[in-house]
Amino acid sequence: MQIENIIITGRMYRELETAWPEGAGKQVRFLAESEVREADMAWADAYVGFKPVPAFHLESVRWVHALGAGVDAFVYRKPWKPDVLLTRTTGSFGRKIGEYCLGHMLAELQRHEMFARSQSDRSWRPVPPQSLSGSRVTVMGTGSVGQELARMLQALGVQVSGVSMRGEKKPYMDHVYPISRIGDAVSAADWVINTLPLTAQTDKLFGSALFARMNGAGFINVGRGPSVDHAALLEALDKGHLRLAVLDVFEEEPLPDASPLWQRNDVRVTPHVAAVTSVEEALSGFLDTLRKLEAGERELANRVDPARGY
Ligand code: GLV
Repeated sequence: MQIENIIITGRMYRELETAWPEGAGKQVRFLAESEVREADMAWADAYVGFKPVPAFHLESVRWVHALGAGVDAFVYRKPWKPDVLLTRTTGSFGRKIGEYCLGHMLAELQRHEMFARSQSDRSWRPVPPQSLSGSRVTVMGTGSVGQELARMLQALGVQVSGVSMRGEKKPYMDHVYPISRIGDAVSAADWVINTLPLTAQTDKLFGSALFARMNGAGFINVGRGPSVDHAALLEALDKGHLRLAVLDVFEEEPLPDASPLWQRNDVRVTPHVAAVTSVEEALSGFLDTLRKLEAGERELANRVDPARGY
């Protein structure tokens, strides 16, 4: 596929313009999301951004490249044209998500909050930390993010189970359950971590029925907000099915002021920061995909199946 005219939009469009390599030999319009017009869409062969802007449509583009790992903004509950290629950024999301999850898990096990309180009270309270090694973690999603997270956890002695659509065996996971057995996958878990993309199968997947199968687990959501029913999550915390929820993504972002999640001691709220695309990985991911496309390579590891939704 030959690409000549490219729209690059999204919050980092200026940085991408500055970093754009000389001699890349393409016509590129670097535009703020609010600046993309119908005429730009009609001109472009390729659209690069985190999400579709209001003027976005699929009539004339042949390739859409997502600057994030998730592509739900483009394909979930939206029509797609089968002849338009969709690719996404892969980069170091798995590593970043691994560090995010480990940070929160270890903070709990090492009792960071308690020791911070003790310090401010000048109180010497030698409560020993708990061990991460030997704990059981269920990772929902066995793609590149889930696998890298599992690799990091396994290296620290964690027993890792995975959950995927079909339950195919994957590296770094002791066992992978098909989604049809998701309840069995969570019942013995100390932590349940969601990395799944948002699709029809994962929308509100974490609801009362699934939380009821958990036995005091900690829950981390680094997938997508709409996968969690927040009322069910609060109820699961109140009933003790969950002991802690660490949430980086929400149905509505920014999380509204009125949300009860803000003030709970058993909920950690972070503002969608677990795996933020860097300018370097956005640029290299895009240019690498462009090069492969123009060289006629058929196997693109970052290709998305729009019908499947990830
Ligand atoms: C972040 O949520 C992403 O999709 O990259």
